[in-house]
Formats: sequence, structure tokens, C-alpha cells
Amino acid sequence: MTLLVFAGAACAGAACDEAALGSGEIEPPALAAAGTAPSAVLVEPAFEPSGVGAPLERVEPSPTVPAVARALAVEVDLPRPHRARGARAVKENAECADCHEEEAREWERSRHRQAFTNRAFADAFAIEPAGFCADCHAPEADETPVTGPVSRLGVGCVTCHVDNDGAVLAVARDGAAGDEAPHAIRRSPGFGTAAACAGCHEFRFPTARPGATDDGAFMQTTAREHARSPAADRSCASCHMPSKAGRRSHDFGVVRDPDWLREALSASVSLDVSDALEITLTQKAPGHAFPTGDLFRRLEVGAELRGPGGKVLLRRVRHLERHLEISRSRGTRELVDDDRVFFEPRVVELDLHPPDGAAAPSSVVWWVKLQRVAQTFDGRDPSAAIIESEVPLYRGTLPWKPSQP
Ligand code: HEC
Ligand code: HEC
Ligand code: HEC
Ligand code: HEC
Ligand code: HEC
Repeated sequence: MTLLVFAGAACAGAACDEAALGSGEIEPPALAAAGTAPSAVLVEPAFEPSGVGAPLERVEPSPTVPAVARALAVEVDLPRPHRARGARAVKENAECADCHEEEAREWERSRHRQAFTNRAFADAFAIEPAGFCADCHAPEADETPVTGPVSRLGVGCVTCHVDNDGAVLAVARDGAAGDEAPHAIRRSPGFGTAAACAGCHEFRFPTARPGATDDGAFMQTTAREHARSPAADRSCASCHMPSKAGRRSHDFGVVRDPDWLREALSASVSLDVSDALEITLTQKAPGHAFPTGDLFRRLEVGAELRGPGGKVLLRRVRHLERHLEISRSRGTRELVDDDRVFFEPRVVELDLHPPDGAAAPSSVVWWVKLQRVAQTFDGRDPSAAIIESEVPLYRGTLPWKPSQP
């Protein structure tokens, strides 16, 4: 995600179709066969972001956290950006890892651990080294320049678990579990809820009016989407930290597992008499919009009308995402559309009416992909976006059914 790319207008609705129309120059990749799926977690070499020396302006607190905390009457110091404990955090974190080896192994390969060093962040930060980025991607950093082991720690055990008094936060539960710990444990009802994550997983654009509460003012809205979802009472951890033998997975890697993603979103297609292909996407157990998270996550839904020898006669592509329109001259940003899948099934209609004079169509190839986008440039041409990575979710072929007279 690179902020600079906001200096342009994202397309909406029909405009996207037009912009992405082409002659089949981009061949969609074959669907990864079940069982040969790439491993759930990307482990990347550590990069040292070059964007150092930026002033550390603070990120504005998310409004959802205090709301959750008030509802629960939670008073503990829940996980949040800018903990800024410096070198002490690195030392304490190593101690946690020494005793809790399994959690530590999983955390080492997580995106939290790599929050400051992964290539996607490093690239974005190099272009735009805003100090506020470090609040979440290097939350224990306490100084400028943002560099060294404290930044590389990323989101540490201590960032989520250790409050300002030095006690270890854990979920509230009955009985004496954890009593044998050689450290103080503070069991908190809040830690077992979305409030353990919301502090970093919802935030405003740095340029938004302070205190603004509309969705368009927010760069990420995962916490409020969750609060509006049928799973509002379920913790984020219940989906993102699957339990194994009474322990929660700490690699947060399921979101990169194609099989897990397909479990969460189903797709069905139908071709109607007026040559429109309808692709219906349905979330099975919505915890928030699909996709959520970073601003430039999107679902690509596409189809090609094929003729003799597989020749592409027509190609239609739609991108389901948060569509923002930015006026550089007025310095405004408006959320003009949000057509991600959320709760209600999303029906995407692609007009496959054969072009005049084209050869006789024989089949329709369609696909659905989850794309993590690094840059959208001016935002007007969705096909110009630089794709950081993509997960092919569905792909199929239908026989062509000619129009009825
Ligand atoms: C000297 C070893 C040691 C160190 C250092 C240590 N722990 Fe523990 N911790 C334990 C033991 C033993 C328990 C109790 C058994 C268990 O739950 O694993 C425990 C319990 C916990 C629990 C409660 C689990 C539950 O819900 O019952 C959490 C959370 C935890 N530790 C996190 C941490 C974090 C974070 C750090 C670093 C700040 C840390 N621990 C440092 C040994 C250690
Ligand atoms: C992004 C936040 C986050 C980070 C980073 C994190 N934890 Fe946790 N951890 C949690 C949450 C949330 C739970 C409780 C989930 C639940 O049971 O609902 C938990 C549970 C635990 C438990 C209880 C036993 C278990 O595994 O379920 C231990 C022990 C623990 N964490 C230790 C660690 C250690 C050690 C690290 C670093 C190597 C670490 N955690 C990093 C959020 C985090
Ligand atoms: C201190 C801030 C902070 C807290 C607290 C936090 N996260 Fe994150 N989380 C991040 C950042 C930053 C990233 C992005 C790291 C990257 O890829 O650069 C991230 C990434 C993720 C991802 C994406 C993983 C991937 O492979 O792309 C998931 C899922 C996630 N967090 C879930 C959670 C959950 C669930 C909790 C609460 C238990 C939580 N986070 C708490 C900051 C936080
Ligand atoms: C009912 C299950 C469920 C719950 C509850 C849930 N999620 Fe998710 N989450 C998913 C699924 C499925 C995906 C993959 C599709 C997507 O990106 O939306 C996902 C994706 C994500 C991602 C996107 C990572 C990426 O690919 O960029 C983040 C970040 C995330 N969740 C954080 C959270 C946080 C924070 C909460 C709580 C406020 C939460 N989730 C609650 C199921 C859930
Ligand atoms: C309030 C916390 C917060 C702030 C501030 C923040 N981020 Fe993030 N960032 C996150 C979270 C949480 C995610 C994970 C969402 C996801 O993976 O979809 C994330 C994801 C990303 C990603 C995708 C990483 C990946 O693994 O694909 C990039 C790139 C990124 N942020 C760059 C930045 C930059 C650059 C800034 C400053 C201009 C910034 N972030 C400010 C919380 C934050």
C-alpha cells in the first residue's frame, strides 16, 4: 500500500469495466490445485527500509477501541500503536521467546514479526517515509530515525501482551490456568475480544479531519466492519488464531492459504439469455468485508468469451474494492463506492454480448482472484496497478449459449 497513489481517482462501476477491457493480453493463471497450494505463510528475507529520519507524528486512536472497551468496562492497557518502549522491548521479547518456544516459532514467520521488514512495507515506506507508519509497523520504536533492532522487532509478543505496568495480558478464564507462570498475569475480558486487535486494524488517513468518523476518512476499517458483521461477538482470534491442542496459532497465516480463503468465499456462475454472465460471491461466515485490511486489497472478477482455437473475442474485468476518488487540486478524498463482498451475496454481471463481426463464440472462461495491490498509480486504470501478490480462488469454463432471438 503506497499513499502517494491516492493522488488519482479510482474508478467505479462501469468505468472499471471499460478501463480493464482488453484483448486477452493477460492470461489468468491456472487455479492452484487443492493440495498443491503454496504454504500459508510467506517467509521473506529481512529488508532494511531506507526511509529513515522522518518525524514521528502520532497515529490518531481508533474510535472503535474505546467503544469496545467502554462496553466491556475494560480498563487495562490493550494492544495499540506506538508503545515506544525501545531497547527494553527487544530484551523482554527475547525472554518471552525463550520460554514460549512454540508461540515464538510461529510468531517468527508471521507478518506481525515482519511488519517493518517485509518487502511490501519496505517498498512503500521507502517511497513515503511518514513517521506515523512506524506507530504500527514498528510500534516499539521510540526515536527518530526509525531503524535498528527495535524497528525490526515489528509487532512483538510484548506489543500485544505486556501492559504499561509490565504485567502479561491474557484472556479471562475460570480456574487457575497460568497460575504457575513465573510472571504476573493480568487476565482481561478485553483481551479475548476484537479490542486486542482494533487499535491497529482500524485507522484514519493521516490527512483526514481529526475525529472524522465516516468510513471514507479511514485507511483501514476492519474493526468497524467486524462490529457491523454477524460475527461481532466473536473474537478476531477465533478465526485468525486457530486452536491446536489448547493453544492459539501465532503465525496469523491463514489469510494466505488458498484453501482457507475458498472455505470463506464461495462462487457460482450462470449465463443468461441476454449474454450476461452472473458471478455470485457469497461469504460463508462473514467476520468483516471480503477483502478487508489494507486499502488496496481487491477481488478481481473476470471472464473471457472464447472463439475457435481458444481465441479471446471479448474480455471483461471488474474489481471489487473500496473505490476512492481523489481530487488533487481540491485536496479532497471521497469514498464513492464500496463493492466488496460483505454479508449479502455480491452478484457481478459481465456483459459478454459477442462483438459485431466476431467469430462464433464457443466457450466462456471465468475467474475470481484475491489481489494484494502495491500501487494503483493514478487509480483510473485498474489494469495498471502493480500487484504485490494474488491468490487465484476460482476458475471455470462454460459452453457458450447463443442468444435467443
Ligand atoms: C521463565 C519462563 C517464562 C518467561 C520468561 C515468560 N513466560 Fe509466560 N508463562 C510461563 C509459564 C510457565 C506459564 C504458565 C504455563 C502456560 O500457560 O504456558 C506462562 C504463562 C503465560 C501466559 C498465560 C497463558 C494462559 O492464558 O494461561 C501468557 C499469555 C504468557 N505466559 C506470555 C508471556 C509473555 C508475553 C512473556 C514475555 C513478556 C512471557 N510469557 C515470559 C513461562 C514464562
Ligand atoms: C498480534 C498480537 C499477538 C502477538 C504478536 C503475540 N500474541 Fe500471544 N496471544 C495473543 C492473543 C489475542 C492470545 C489469546 C487468544 C485467545 O485465546 O483468545 C494469545 C495467547 C497467547 C498465549 C496463551 C497460550 C496460547 O498459545 O494460546 C501465550 C503463552 C502467548 N500468547 C505468548 C506469546 C508469545 C511468547 C508471543 C511472541 C513470541 C506472542 N504471544 C505474540 C496475541 C498475540
Ligand atoms: C500493534 C499493532 C497491531 C496489533 C495490536 C495487531 N496487529 Fe495485526 N497487523 C499489524 C500490522 C502492522 C500488520 C501488517 C504487517 C505487514 O504485513 O507489513 C498486521 C497484519 C495482520 C494480518 C495479516 C497477515 C498477513 O499474512 O497478511 C492479520 C490477519 C492480523 N494482523 C490479525 C491481527 C489480529 C487477529 C490481532 C489481534 C489478536 C492483531 N492483528 C493485532 C499490526 C497489529
Ligand atoms: C468469522 C471469521 C473472521 C473474523 C471474526 C475475523 N476475520 Fe479477518 N479474515 C477472515 C477471512 C475469511 C479473511 C480473508 C478474506 C479477507 O481478506 O477479508 C480475513 C482477512 C483478514 C485480514 C486481511 C489480510 C490480508 O489479506 O490483507 C485482516 C488484516 C484481518 N482479517 C483482520 C481481522 C481482525 C482485526 C478481526 C477482528 C476485528 C477479524 N479479522 C475478524 C475471517 C475473519
Ligand atoms: C494504525 C496502524 C497502521 C498505520 C499507522 C500504518 N499501517 Fe500499514 N498496515 C497496518 C495493518 C494492520 C496492516 C495489515 C492489513 C493487511 O495486511 O491487509 C497493514 C498493511 C500494510 C501494508 C501491506 C503489507 C503486506 O504485507 O502486504 C503496507 C505496504 C503498509 N501497511 C504500509 C504502510 C505505510 C507506508 C504506512 C504509513 C504511510 C502505514 N502502513 C501505516 C497498520 C498500519
